[in-house]
Amino acid sequence: MKNVKFGRTGIRVSELCLGTMTFGLQADEATSHAIMDTAFDAGINFIDTADMYPSGRKMDEHIGATEEVIGRWLPGKRDHVFLASKFFFPMGTSPWDGGGNRKHIMASIDNSLRRLDTDYLDLYQIHMFDRHTPLDETLGALDDVVKSGKVRYVGCSNHDAWHLARAIGRSETLGLVRYESVQPRYNILFRNIERELLPLCAHDDVAVISYNPLAGGFLTGKHGRGEPDANNRFSFGTAAERYRERYWAEDKFDIVEQLRPIADEAGLSMAALALAWVLANPHITSPIVGASKPEQLVDSLAAVDKPLDPEIKAKIDDLTAHYRTVDVER
Ligand SMILES: NC(=O)c1ccc[n+]([C@@H]2O[C@H](COP(=O)([O-])OP(=O)(O)OC[C@H]3O[C@@H](n4cnc5c(N)ncnc54)[C@H](OP(=O)(O)O)[C@@H]3O)[C@@H](O)[C@H]2O)c1
Repeated sequence: MKNVKFGRTGIRVSELCLGTMTFGLQADEATSHAIMDTAFDAGINFIDTADMYPSGRKMDEHIGATEEVIGRWLPGKRDHVFLASKFFFPMGTSPWDGGGNRKHIMASIDNSLRRLDTDYLDLYQIHMFDRHTPLDETLGALDDVVKSGKVRYVGCSNHDAWHLARAIGRSETLGLVRYESVQPRYNILFRNIERELLPLCAHDDVAVISYNPLAGGFLTGKHGRGEPDANNRFSFGTAAERYRERYWAEDKFDIVEQLRPIADEAGLSMAALALAWVLANPHITSPIVGASKPEQLVDSLAAVDKPLDPEIKAKIDDLTAHYRTVDVER
């Protein structure tokens, strides 16, 4: 596993980041620890989580469980891991328990550190753009969190290009910490960041740690048309409907069928092909890959050993060019 430069910073991280949002619900603790062991043994030193994980939980159940599962795995390994978490979504019932306000940020970082059983985070990310809090307030609070020693770098997720451009401008103007990374959704079936966000990140040297490279398992080709089987991203928990809305469509099943011979030609599994396609984009720093079982991660990991042939990448780019124009409402 190669290590790559993390944006403009002096840090290098593994070219793959491990996502954790299945941990503590779809994947029980033993399975989650086995996935982390598999990743760590393969050279992944970068782990992404969020205070509001696990995914698929009911509103007030299991909140924070993923960070706790990671916290019980970390002892003895903390110095060898670049650990990222996120804040934004409500973690309580008070009106300030969410978003990018100063009170929420100050409480959230302490709660994440307690659950993760560590005294600092390497990367602290705002999970969504907050339309209701002035950017100066959020950036000022994050600057204080970094100065306090609780966080090394800050970043953002699910930001449009103008959100990030504006935030970088305010940081520069005010002399505050800057978002050093952005975490957008990106895969063969969802390519809108290629238009505005990736050129901005290249220009300002912002690390791009994109999520959902396998479209939640859809691109592995294991799903058939009709109703999804039990206990996977498209049937499990409260997020299943959202994922079906994103991917469970005739045009996307058609693309999966057309990808099968391309995967054969590349000598890769469908999962590894999907991940290799993201890795082949020079503007992506480290895609965040997910798993609900260790053997899935082993399958996907083949992507780092076999870089995608440029002709095969071009074929997939052409086949799915229309997914560059699909936008999301925020
Ligand atoms: N910032 C955000 O808003 C945001 C949003 C989503 C995710 N993320 C981050 O990104 C991480 C990765 O996202 P993601 O889980 O959506 O990524 P993904 O890699 O697209 O999907 C992972 C899922 O695909 C299935 N899978 C993985 N490898 C497989 C294989 N080899 N064969 C068959 N199925 C396989 C598993 O689901 P099943 O077993 O259920 O089929 C697994 O949980 C998350 O854990 C989280 O850290 C961030």
